[in-house]
Amino acid sequence: MRIVSDRLMLRPWQDADRAPFAEMSADPAVMQYLLPLATRDASDAWIDRQMAHLAAHGFCFWAVEADGGFVGTVGLGRIGYTAHFTPAVEIGWRIARAFWGLGYAPEAARAALRFGFETAACPEIVANAGFDNDKSQRVMAKLGMSRDPADDFDHPRVPEGDPLRRQVLYRLRRENWLRNPTQSEGEDGS
Ligand SMILES: CC(C)(COP(=O)(O)OP(=O)(O)OC[C@H]1O[C@@H](n2cnc3c(N)ncnc32)[C@H](O)[C@@H]1OP(=O)(O)O)[C@@H](O)C(=O)NCCC(=O)NCCS
Repeated sequence: MRIVSDRLMLRPWQDADRAPFAEMSADPAVMQYLLPLATRDASDAWIDRQMAHLAAHGFCFWAVEADGGFVGTVGLGRIGYTAHFTPAVEIGWRIARAFWGLGYAPEAARAALRFGFETAACPEIVANAGFDNDKSQRVMAKLGMSRDPADDFDHPRVPEGDPLRRQVLYRLRRENWLRNPTQSEGEDGS
């Protein structure tokens, strides 16, 4: 299946995505607030996990295309660690630096939220980010997600002492999304 929006397509991973994904994930600016994918093997294994997640759950962090070219990844995932808000489905994004500032992350995320709420019937979708990751938190705000500081948490997969360990949590409930569906995307079903 593919999800289309005005400018973008969210689709399953192809072998041709592996090189540009690895290049994006080796960019220190892109990875500033993310756990590292230090090697090509680690990068490929991340893609393999997304393909397995798609097969198991019907959604994943999809590859995102604009004008036929790879620009990044946006999608949904079942959170694999334990925290005060899990079990939960998360939304996340990573866009190659050359394409920042074009509104691609929020556009693709609206399409992914629509899939999550209307097709997968998730009751709630959450997003987390490092405290200083203003760009990502801007995307969460643009999507109508909201943060309660009482939800801030220590990420169990980030080592103690690492500044990334303390994370903010944004939430969006299905009823709030359905009350204010701001998206104009379609699904071509192929
Ligand atoms: C966060 C990210 C996905 C945003 O993607 P995007 O498609 O550029 O999103 P937008 O165009 O809506 O821009 C979001 C914000 O980023 C900032 N921004 C945009 N372009 C920028 C640039 N070239 N340089 C610095 N900041 C920029 C702006 O604050 C913008 O908010 P605004 O539109 O209110 O001014 C992208 O910056 C990214 O991939 N960052 C690295 C990976 C990451 O941190 N992922 C999230 C982990 S929680």
